[in-house]
Amino acid sequence: MKTAVVTGANRGIGLEVCRQLAHAGYQVILTARDEAKGRKAADLLLEENLNVEFFLLDVTNNHHIRDLADFLKKKYGVLDALVNNAAIIGSRESVSAPSSDEIRQVMETNYFGPLMLIKELLPLLKQSDDGRIVNVSTGMGAWNDLVGNYAAYRLSKVGLNALTLMFANDLHGTGVKVNSVCPGWVKTDMGGANAPRTVEQGADTIVWAVTHSPMPTGKFFRNRREIPF
Ligand SMILES: NC(=O)c1ccc[n+]([C@@H]2O[C@H](COP(=O)([O-])OP(=O)(O)OC[C@H]3O[C@@H](n4cnc5c(N)ncnc54)[C@H](OP(=O)(O)O)[C@@H]3O)[C@@H](O)[C@H]2O)c1
Repeated sequence: MKTAVVTGANRGIGLEVCRQLAHAGYQVILTARDEAKGRKAADLLLEENLNVEFFLLDVTNNHHIRDLADFLKKKYGVLDALVNNAAIIGSRESVSAPSSDEIRQVMETNYFGPLMLIKELLPLLKQSDDGRIVNVSTGMGAWNDLVGNYAAYRLSKVGLNALTLMFANDLHGTGVKVNSVCPGWVKTDMGGANAPRTVEQGADTIVWAVTHSPMPTGKFFRNRREIPF
């Protein structure tokens, strides 16, 4: 059975990605930074008879990341997919306004978290015959849309997209594919009540980028179609 790790999966798009991947036959490691919330989310999927287990992971905590790598190595010896979904949005401010503390906090979660996870889990992903890394990004981090509000968030997602391109280049020939996905504007705590998309729709292209074959590498997708970085 293939294995997949999803970050920030106790609610929102991450939880739905876990559900869809488990339905697609994956053993899902549902991770969250809050143990009670994470276990509750995993229990919800276990009640649906899905293959899901919980692991505590604050993506800003390097000890958690190393513990996850050790756990996966001992239990499975391989990882088939990493979905870097966890993120915070920060304040609405444009680029000169947010405090440096806030920008650092957003970068720690949305950029350094995925970077450290990829670095730590790469040996296990390379053990897969079709490893996948999916970085959950946003059109707000595309080069042609670096204007206006949510500056810290946009900067962090530009960085995330750069990780996609650089790891894709670095991993060429290893079999590990690295892509970014924009889920669209989705009705979650982050997206708000006015968002037009359901979590099922938001999770769709993320799950497709994990499961579909053949899959290119170093691309940015929305609605299962390539979009410009
Ligand atoms: N919703 C949208 O319209 C939209 C649009 C474009 C892109 N996206 C992207 O889609 C992804 C999921 O967004 P969402 O709408 O589902 O957001 P959400 O409802 O706000 O959920 C975010 C998740 O990330 C977790 N998280 C935050 N910081 C974390 C950390 N340090 N360690 C581990 N988990 C952490 C949260 O955990 P807690 O419950 O503990 O806070 C929560 O589970 C994000 O990458 C976001 O940027 C969303």
